[in-house]
Amino acid sequence: MAGGPLPAPAEKAAAVRDMFDRIAPGYDRMNGLMTAGFDRAWRRAVIELAAVGPGDRVVDVACGTGDLGLLATTVGASVVGVDFSAPMLEIAAGRGLGGRLSRADALELPVANACADAVTCGFALRNFVSIPPFLAEAGRVLKPGGRIVLLEVATPTNALVRFCHQVYFNRVVPLLGALLAEREAYTYLPHSVVYLPTTVELLEMLAAAGFERTGARRLGSGGIQLVYGRRRS
Ligand SMILES: C[S@@+](CC[C@H](N)C(=O)[O-])C[C@H]1O[C@@H](n2cnc3c(N)ncnc32)[C@H](O)[C@@H]1O
Repeated sequence: MAGGPLPAPAEKAAAVRDMFDRIAPGYDRMNGLMTAGFDRAWRRAVIELAAVGPGDRVVDVACGTGDLGLLATTVGASVVGVDFSAPMLEIAAGRGLGGRLSRADALELPVANACADAVTCGFALRNFVSIPPFLAEAGRVLKPGGRIVLLEVATPTNALVRFCHQVYFNRVVPLLGALLAEREAYTYLPHSVVYLPTTVELLEMLAAAGFERTGARRLGSGGIQLVYGRRRS
């Protein structure tokens, strides 16, 4: 990303896509390392909270290498994974999500109206140019009563935990990235949190996009959040 870790708004989508294209080969390894493997439990929590079950149709937006989609298939759901990075999708295809993947922007989902039982989205909100258009798209593709669950990073509320979290996120993660992947990308990651609205704002956005029974849950000592709701009937 030319000129610093955060791209200018007009360049954001292309810069984010180029970045994920570059880091795709090492993405899963870095994810596992950065989260000490806890990401698997957080993803399971998404599938449980979205009450994904046999026969459900799930749209996993910004699916990356397919972790959430694969988990949904293990409980008998059919999954459409959407992402705009071809190299991320190639890895997802290699892991078995094959014919269920679509290369597209999260803000223009290539999915019919009111066909999905659940929409999931993991660690991608802060990469979008704007969040309300994504929520509008999620509402469009969900059936009335359909569930949405968003998995994102969060700022811990406890001061000591927040201090440790910030040291880890702002110092250790870029260092790990520089050693094992790409410094620029893993410097963008902590910086990109500035794009993330507060949990309260996210809940307001969900309500404005036509979701009800909304709520949020913290995991990972408060450094991770699940934000959820149901499409109004
Ligand atoms: C941090 S990764 C998360 C991947 C996966 N959801 C996970 O939980 O591991 C973010 C993903 O969002 C995708 N992405 C970012 N902005 C996007 C957009 N506007 N449309 C589609 N995909 C997008 C990137 O290509 C990348 O694969």
